[in-house]
Amino acid sequence: MADKNYYVTTPIYYVNDKPHIGHAYTTILADVLANYHRLLGTPTYFLTGTDEHGQKVQQAADKNGLTPQQQCDQTVVRFQELWKRLEITNDDFIRTTEERHKVIVQEVLQDLYDRDEIYRAEYEGWYCVGCERFFAEKDLVDGNCPECGRKVDAIVETNYFFRMSKYQDWLIEYIETHPEFIQPDFRANETLGFLKTKTLQDLCISRPKARLAWGIELPFDKDFVTYVWFDALLNYITAIGYKRDDEKFEKWWPATHQLIGKDILTTHTVYWPTMLKAMNVPLPKTVFAHGWWLTGRTKMSKSLGNVVNPMEMVDRYGVDAFRYFLIAEMTLGQDASFTEEAFIRRYNSDLANDLGNLMSRTVNMLGRYCDSIFPTIGKNALDGAPEKELWDTVQQAVIEMEKAIDTMCLNGGLTAVLTAVRKVNQYFEIKQPWTQAKEGKTEEVGITLALAAESLRVCAALLYPVMPEKMSALRTAFGLGKPELNQLRTFGVIKAGTPIGNPGILFPRVEVEKVEEKPVSKKKEKPVSTEPVKIEGVITYDDVMNVKLRTAKVLEAEKVEGADKLLKLQIEVGEEKRQLIAGIALHYTPEQLIGKTIVIVANLKPAKIRGVESQGMLLCASIGDQLKLITVDGELPASGAVVK
Ligand code: MSP
Repeated sequence: MADKNYYVTTPIYYVNDKPHIGHAYTTILADVLANYHRLLGTPTYFLTGTDEHGQKVQQAADKNGLTPQQQCDQTVVRFQELWKRLEITNDDFIRTTEERHKVIVQEVLQDLYDRDEIYRAEYEGWYCVGCERFFAEKDLVDGNCPECGRKVDAIVETNYFFRMSKYQDWLIEYIETHPEFIQPDFRANETLGFLKTKTLQDLCISRPKARLAWGIELPFDKDFVTYVWFDALLNYITAIGYKRDDEKFEKWWPATHQLIGKDILTTHTVYWPTMLKAMNVPLPKTVFAHGWWLTGRTKMSKSLGNVVNPMEMVDRYGVDAFRYFLIAEMTLGQDASFTEEAFIRRYNSDLANDLGNLMSRTVNMLGRYCDSIFPTIGKNALDGAPEKELWDTVQQAVIEMEKAIDTMCLNGGLTAVLTAVRKVNQYFEIKQPWTQAKEGKTEEVGITLALAAESLRVCAALLYPVMPEKMSALRTAFGLGKPELNQLRTFGVIKAGTPIGNPGILFPRVEVEKVEEKPVSKKKEKPVSTEPVKIEGVITYDDVMNVKLRTAKVLEAEKVEGADKLLKLQIEVGEEKRQLIAGIALHYTPEQLIGKTIVIVANLKPAKIRGVESQGMLLCASIGDQLKLITVDGELPASGAVVK
C-alpha cells in the first residue's frame, strides 16, 4: 500500500472453452484488490484479457468447425459478458490477437534475436501436446510428461530458442534477495527448489507453421509462429504501452500484483522474469499464486462433470453473494472447496442473518421511532461504554481490513468486518431501543440508532469492494454515495435530517430443502446401553490440558533421505517456524502437504529421528493401513491456534 500506483493483472484466459469458477475467482480477486486500492486513494490500473493463440485454441476451433479467429471472437464474448455480470471494473481488456499486442511481440522478438538472446537450433527430444512444452529425456517421469503425467511424443525439429539457461544463477539470487517477488513464500521455495535441483534449459519459443500455424509469425522467419506462452506473457506490458507510450508504461510498470493460479507458477516465475531480464525491463513486484477451487475435495474437471459454472451461481444467489463467498472462503495461497451447501451456509449466516438482518432492523426502527429521518445527536454520542466499545470494534475492522489488503489475507479482513456487524446486533440487545422508545427516551433512541447506522456505514464501505451492488444500495438508504477513505475513521458522517430509504431485504434467506432421512432398519439399531461407559487408560482433565495442541501451516515438505516412510516438514506455528519429522510418506506426497493446516502436539520434547531434529508431533487418524491427516474444518486467520 506504500506504493504510489497500484497495477494488478490476472492471467489471460484461453478461449478454447467457456469461463468457469477458476477464471471467475482470479478476476474477482483482482477486482476486489483494485477496488480496495481505489478506496484507499491509490491510483489503480486493472488488466485482464484473453490468450488467443496456440494449440489449445486451434484444437477447439477444429472441433467446433470454426477458424481459430472465429473461435476467439465467439468465446471472448463469454468472458466479457461474465465480467460485466460480475461487476468487474477492469481498466483494459487485452486480446492477444489484437494488432497493438502482436506488433510489440514481434519487436521484442526481433530485438532479442538481434542481440543473440534467441538462436536457431535443431531440437531432438520429447513434446507434450497437452502442456505444449518440450522436455529433455532426463526430466520425464516414468517416460511421461513431468507436468501432467500424459504421454509425450518423440520429436526432431528445427526451432528458435531463448537463452533462458544463462539466467539460472541470476534468477536464484534475485528470488533469494527479493522475498516479495513470489508470494506466498512457500511458492518461492517451490520455484527455488526447482531452480536449484534442475539445470534450466533454453526455452523453445517457436513452432513450425507446418505443425501449428495459429500464432504470431516470427519477424525473422516466416515459417514459424511464436510459442503461445512467450506471446501471452508479454500482454502484461503491451497493454500498458511498452515501446509505444512511455509515460503510461512508466506510470504502471512494474506491476504491483500479478495474480495467478498455482498451476502457472513456472511460466510466471521462471520464463517471465528471465524474459524481462533479457529485455532489460524490471520485474513485477509480486507474482501471487493462489490455490485451486475444488469441488468438495476433488479437482474440478470437465470429464468429471463437476466444474462450477459461475453464471449459474450468480443467477441463483446474486452477484454480490457469489463474490463474497469466493473471497471469504479462500485463504489466499491455499486450496478451497466449493460446495453449494457451504455456500448457502455462509450466505445465510453472514449475509442473510447478520448483515441483512441488521440493515432491516436499523431501517425499520429508524422508520418506527424517528419517522425515517436521521436523528440529531449530540457530541456526547460516543461517551457511553457500550457505544465506545462498539465504535472501537468498528474501527478495529478498518485497521484489520487495511492490514488484510497489505498481507493478502482478505478473508481475515472480512471476518473482522463481520465481527463488527455482529457487535451492532449485540449492541441492540444491550440498548433495546424498543424499550427506550416505550419509556419515552427519545434522545437515547436516537443515539442507539445513529450509532448502529454509522457502524453499518463503515462496514458497508469496507465491504463495498467485495459487494459493490448491495453495499451501494445500503449506503444510498442513508443518503450516501460511494465510500471515501477519509470517512472510515470519522464518526457522524450521515447528516441529521437525512430521509432514510428502504433498500428492501438485501439478502433474502435461502431455505434449504430438508434431506429426506432414510428410515433405519430396526434390526440393526443397537439398544442404548444404560451401563456406565468403560474407558480404558483414563486420564484427568489436567493431563489433557498439559498437552498443547496447536494448528500449524506446512510451508515446505520433502522426503527424508534413506527413509521411505518419513517426511521432513517445515511448519509455521503462529510467529514461530519449526521442523517436524512425520511418518506419513507412504500416504502423502510432499506436494500434497504444502499449504495444509495440520494439528500438532506443540510441547513434545524435541527428538532426533534418523539424525534429523523433530520439534513436535503431527496428528493423524489411522485405521488398518489407511491414514488421514487431522486438519481443521474451514480456515482460521493464522496458524498457531489453540486446539481444545
Ligand atoms: N492462458 C494461460 C495463462 C496465460 S497468462 C500470461 C492459462 N489460461 S487458463 O484459461 O487455463 O486459465 C488459467 C487460470 O485460471 C489459472 O492460473 C487460475 O488463475 C484460473 N484457474 C483455472 N482453474 C482454476 C481452479 N479450479 N481454481 C482456481 N483458479 C484456477 O493458463
